[in-house]
Amino acid sequence: MRQIWITKIGPPEVLEVKEAPDPEPKAGEVRIRVEASGINFADILGRLGLYPDLPPIPIVPGYEVSGHVDAVGAGVAANWVGRDVLAATRFGGYADTVCVPIKQVFVRPPGMSALEAASIPVNYFTAWQLIVVMGSLKANETVLIHSAGGGVGIAATQIAKYIGARVIGTASAAKHAELRALGADHLIDYRTEDFETRTREITDGRGVELILDAVGGESWKKGYRVLAPTGRLGVFGISAAVSGKERNLLGMLATLARVPWFQFNPLSLMNANKGVFGVNLGHMWGEIDRQRQWADQLLNLWTRGAIKPKVASTFPFAEAPQAHHFVQDRRNIGKVLLVP
Ligand SMILES: NC(=O)c1ccc[n+]([C@@H]2O[C@H](COP(=O)([O-])OP(=O)(O)OC[C@H]3O[C@@H](n4cnc5c(N)ncnc54)[C@H](OP(=O)(O)O)[C@@H]3O)[C@@H](O)[C@H]2O)c1
Repeated sequence: MRQIWITKIGPPEVLEVKEAPDPEPKAGEVRIRVEASGINFADILGRLGLYPDLPPIPIVPGYEVSGHVDAVGAGVAANWVGRDVLAATRFGGYADTVCVPIKQVFVRPPGMSALEAASIPVNYFTAWQLIVVMGSLKANETVLIHSAGGGVGIAATQIAKYIGARVIGTASAAKHAELRALGADHLIDYRTEDFETRTREITDGRGVELILDAVGGESWKKGYRVLAPTGRLGVFGISAAVSGKERNLLGMLATLARVPWFQFNPLSLMNANKGVFGVNLGHMWGEIDRQRQWADQLLNLWTRGAIKPKVASTFPFAEAPQAHHFVQDRRNIGKVLLVP
């Protein structure tokens, strides 16, 4: 098999394709011949040595794949062989063959392409946890979605629109027309406009009921201020800590210094009628049974046409460095995938 390794901390060029013997599925696992692997921003943080959950480098990153099952381990029904699936992988997804515990494998609905399938686990599970499970977004409420053009942002926009909420997105200006067509009601170019001021204008001063913010730093402080009474701020990443293609510890520390460490405390939350919550899908492996219920609902929504992953671009394994450049240059509208 072929795998893409993060060989050391550094720019995208540290990603290298290497060959290894095909793995054999252990008890409770299936082996998947991969058709597409999802790229996530966490892989970039990992490559830069800024992701504490990543096992020691060198490592094969990757949280999700789609493909078909070609072998099963002891205890797994033989009729899994030949099924088209998508799966969540705990690292190792940047590979043309993976072995995955059966609990993390989901059957693809008929008609779902391998590219769409590999776009679902991380982006849609995260968006579901943020909006439905913890954000409790309701029809006619307003949600502010940062990085609305990213994989999570588009998934979140689709789920919010399905619920009947109003979506305000922040994104680079070049993405606005396409994001409007994908369902966003209002878009803010956060590079030239102050998102706090614009959000107040759009909501006639009221603010928003829910914010999804994986930018972090100063952004969390401003977001908290622009929550309406009963509003919830969902924090789930800190992309502002990434300021270039090489590791920049000073840039990361500057972002950490802008985190509002003391603004949210039990008394201020109580008196403001606001909530702050966090989501880290990578710390949800113990809750896989609940995630299976989310997956059932999401795959059902896909079958009904209510959600549809948007694939920004695919890159062959040999061009993995270009794929990371593409994301870090902020060029993607939707999901970026690796294909063997
Ligand atoms: N906690 C979790 O479980 C979880 C799960 C998935 C993702 N996340 C986090 O959610 C965020 C978005 O993830 P994603 O996979 O949707 O992202 P993505 O598809 O890779 O999209 C990245 C987009 O983020 C925006 N961005 C903002 N700051 C950036 C920076 N410093 N460098 C590069 N791009 C930046 C850019 O769009 P604009 O230029 O248009 O702003 C860029 O196109 C990331 O912070 C990620 O770590 C967290």
